[in-house]
Amino acid sequence: MLSEVPATQTAIIQYHGGSLKITSGLPVPELEPHHVLVRTASVALNPCDFKMPMRFPTPGLWDGCDFSGFSVLFKDLINLTRPRALIMVKLCGHRVIAACSLKNFDLVRSYGADLVFDYNSKTCAQDIRTATKNTLRYALDPFAEAKTLILCQEAIGRTGGRYCALEQYQEHLCARKTVKNDLVMGGAISGNGVQLPEPYGIPPRPEIGTWARSWYKTVQRLIDDGKLKPSPVRLLPGRFEGIIEGLKMLKEGTISGQKLVVLLENAA
Ligand SMILES: NC(=O)c1ccc[n+]([C@@H]2O[C@H](COP(=O)([O-])OP(=O)(O)OC[C@H]3O[C@@H](n4cnc5c(N)ncnc54)[C@H](OP(=O)(O)O)[C@@H]3O)[C@@H](O)[C@H]2O)c1
Repeated sequence: MLSEVPATQTAIIQYHGGSLKITSGLPVPELEPHHVLVRTASVALNPCDFKMPMRFPTPGLWDGCDFSGFSVLFKDLINLTRPRALIMVKLCGHRVIAACSLKNFDLVRSYGADLVFDYNSKTCAQDIRTATKNTLRYALDPFAEAKTLILCQEAIGRTGGRYCALEQYQEHLCARKTVKNDLVMGGAISGNGVQLPEPYGIPPRPEIGTWARSWYKTVQRLIDDGKLKPSPVRLLPGRFEGIIEGLKMLKEGTISGQKLVVLLENAA
């Protein structure tokens, strides 16, 4: 109800050079048509929460993208925004091959991977080629570092296929003519485009928003049926201070096989 909406709120905001600070007394945004206001109960931390401010320092910009809260239908949003891509791909009927560190093999298998390979092994790409009889067609690379890009490009089978990065990738490392390369931004799903410099910027494409609205229904059904499992959660104490600490942990690369979550208020 409108009477419950506070006049101000606290958020994590970018300052000089993309540094992040807890800032109170910020205005609550005015709602545009078809928008809903969510009182955030908990947030999940994503590597892009520290990568984007480093890449595109924008003083005054709010940080954070995965949240769960109180409104019409947003209680499950953390589950919805971070479903394991692996489960989705499997549900689409594909055979799924995953690369992770050795200690997470069982975890990754429990999410439905048909085959699991150690990305630290020097023969990883060749092992995938052998196991797939040189027929792998699609590779999804969430990191798009030189090492992950080369692994994906080399693992794709003899007749080529598609490489999809979730971060900016070095095009000069994509030497295979039969492989189509692309960068996908989750934010494009609104249909309103992504207002970032190249190569992350995407113009408005309302048809994506239309598609997404029907897709959300499918995702909700999968959650209700228990078919989409969230990542193992590690709760961090400390509300906003916990978020800052968690982002430091992600940046230092000390988190493995867990989704960091911070409760901002009792979500029960
Ligand atoms: N384009 C977009 O819209 C978008 C949106 C959100 C996130 N992202 C990007 O997606 C990436 C992953 O985000 P996330 O939320 O899935 O992170 P996450 O849940 O924190 O995933 C981290 C896991 O990735 C694995 N990993 C790390 N380096 C790897 C490598 N070189 N090869 C294979 N696996 C590796 C690690 O597995 P082990 O522990 O087994 O080593 C780690 O457990 C980040 O780069 C993020 O910036 C992009």
